[in-house]
Amino acid sequence: MTNTKKRLLTGLQSSGTLHIGNYFGALKPFLDIYQDYDSYLMVADYHSLTSLRDPEELRKNVYNVVRDYLAVGVDPEQVVIFRQSDNQDHMELAWVFNCLVTVPFLMQAHSYKDKVAKGLEPNAGLFTYPMLQAADIALYDIDVVPVGEDQRQHIEYTREAVGKFNRAYNDLLREPEEMILSGVGVVPGTDGQKMSKSYGNTIPLFGTREEIKKAVMSIVTDSEGDIPENVYAIHKLLRTEEELAPIYNEHKGRYGDLKNILVEDLETLIAPMREKRESISDEIVESVLAAGKKKAQEKSSETIDKVRKAIGIR
Ligand code: ADP
Ligand code: TRP
Repeated sequence: MTNTKKRLLTGLQSSGTLHIGNYFGALKPFLDIYQDYDSYLMVADYHSLTSLRDPEELRKNVYNVVRDYLAVGVDPEQVVIFRQSDNQDHMELAWVFNCLVTVPFLMQAHSYKDKVAKGLEPNAGLFTYPMLQAADIALYDIDVVPVGEDQRQHIEYTREAVGKFNRAYNDLLREPEEMILSGVGVVPGTDGQKMSKSYGNTIPLFGTREEIKKAVMSIVTDSEGDIPENVYAIHKLLRTEEELAPIYNEHKGRYGDLKNILVEDLETLIAPMREKRESISDEIVESVLAAGKKKAQEKSSETIDKVRKAIGIR
């Protein structure tokens, strides 16, 4: 039987210790769809090099990202999980794209401007970052790229690079579409603002029971009514409104009780993932990456061979 599934790829950079905002906003939406596609999950370590110069941390981050995805339930048999730096075809196609797009075009990239505005060094790698991302995608003949809203422009840049290539040479490469993962919208933190590691208002995704409890107890409940809004907003991610109605009715106004119930519900979600994560050794990660490397190279080598012929190299 021929495989008629569409092809999907997304790239991951380590974002440190994950929180439940990351889970409901990014990981869970990915879990919900990846098996419907011929899927690739790539750890973008060369992209991280644009801002990270600690070799040990760079290496550790790769392992941690893979571990996080395996722990939340991504099945490595159903998706090719691989490391960008394990496949030099990415570097080669990125260069080809760099020779097709212009400096003024790259200067318009929001993410470049944002990062420089935040004080990151404007190194040339950061500047050409979108062309490496375009190569990540075009090499695997990808139809859809699930990403957060912040990455929309990078997929537009990919289409532009691919379009330029196709017009300059043969119509060889596929133009991908972004698939914006909206998840559940914005998950609020313990202070009611967007949950974010930069605000110190997170509930850690792989936290111990004590850590979860500490975070939940710190949820700000200065509302006057029967329902502590910030508690309810997080609870809603775990149970339906129908399930919550009798609970919130029974414990009306007793915020402490409701927080304790939330701790239990979070523990039910988190404990199995936390335990799974602890059981994933470096060796397991390495064997997943080794298998992924082989499959990724198999696919990308077809593309890069055609590209080389088309541009007149070898
Ligand atoms: P942080 O804000 O903690 O630095 P990141 O920017 O590293 O998080 O986010 C990684 C992914 O998790 C992104 O795809 C983002 O959309 C998602 N995400 C992060 N925080 C939230 C949140 N509070 N609600 C929903 N999704 C979130
Ligand atoms: N730039 C993406 C981010 O910061 C990561 C990434 C690298 C990516 N290559 C990709 C995402 C290819 C999608 C497709 O999140």
